[in-house]
Amino acid sequence: MPIVTSKEMFKKAYEGGYAIGAFNVNNMEIIQGITEAAMEEKSPLILQVSAGARKYAKHVYLMKLIEAAVADTDLPICVHLDHGDSFEICKSCIDGGFTSVMIDGSKHSFKDNIELTRRVVEYAHERGVVVEGELGKLAGIEDAVNVSDEDAQFTDPSEVQEFVEKTGVDSLAIAIGTSHGAYKFKPGQTPRLRFDILEKITQLLPNFPIVLHGASSVIPEFVEQINANGGKMPDAIGIPEDMLRQAAKSAVCKINIDSDLRLAMTASIRKYFNEHPDHFDPRQYLTPARAAIKGLVANKIRNVLGSSNTL
Ligand code: G3H
Ligand code: 13P
Ligand code: ZN
Repeated sequence: MPIVTSKEMFKKAYEGGYAIGAFNVNNMEIIQGITEAAMEEKSPLILQVSAGARKYAKHVYLMKLIEAAVADTDLPICVHLDHGDSFEICKSCIDGGFTSVMIDGSKHSFKDNIELTRRVVEYAHERGVVVEGELGKLAGIEDAVNVSDEDAQFTDPSEVQEFVEKTGVDSLAIAIGTSHGAYKFKPGQTPRLRFDILEKITQLLPNFPIVLHGASSVIPEFVEQINANGGKMPDAIGIPEDMLRQAAKSAVCKINIDSDLRLAMTASIRKYFNEHPDHFDPRQYLTPARAAIKGLVANKIRNVLGSSNTL
């Protein structure tokens, strides 16, 4: 099985009422934990690489590790650039073997976002690579100070048709209340996603794959485990799993998860060192860390994304 694009995955996910997990990868143990889980769950997979991950591990190492995972598991795996912010980084990833890129022009004006995204789409499509665009801004909790400000950050449904038509993107990331990182809502705040906006967008873009960024649930057990073993994380709140399940059943075909992987790995390593303060062989603490990633991803695929047994 070669590395694939997300085209077929999204078509089947849309029709089947489930979503594909897009997991951020930075090293071998993360890649192995995710792909072993997907193999056991018989699920397709997107492995995504940020600019930061490329800087940390180098493009070629991540690419070779993913190729090894494909050879080892025989899974359909899509390799995706997460949050590309320029034509140049998208080009470099396309030239370097990725099958999907995100051009995140959401910080630009609508017009400039269209122009930049269109340029990436032209380059990508000529080479058989698919493109994710973004409309709307994912907020940090401090950003949404009042309702009108909040509304201004969400994706404006009146823009989506023009954006998709003019750019030719294959999928669209939207802002409906998710955000990146472990602190998505203020303590005491009730998590809320704007499913009404998603519904409007779905009506305007029938059969078009929608992407949710910032979709970690910030699993409380991991935060507790971190703090029980010397960590000092303040109250962290993520997107409730039932909301993600609801999104996965709709036009949302790709759900991005990074923070939960970080928390699972850190919680495991902290616990290990607390229990074995004299150990220093990285294989000893990375073995349970990789198993924690695998357990987390298997649970996401089975109980949140709904993509088990869809190969
Ligand atoms: O959305 C961002 C991802 O979580 C990647 O984070 O840029 O720190 O690698 P990073
Ligand atoms: P989380 O921080 O919620 O895991 O979001 C990850 C993401 O959106 C990567 O693009
Ligand atoms: Zn993101």
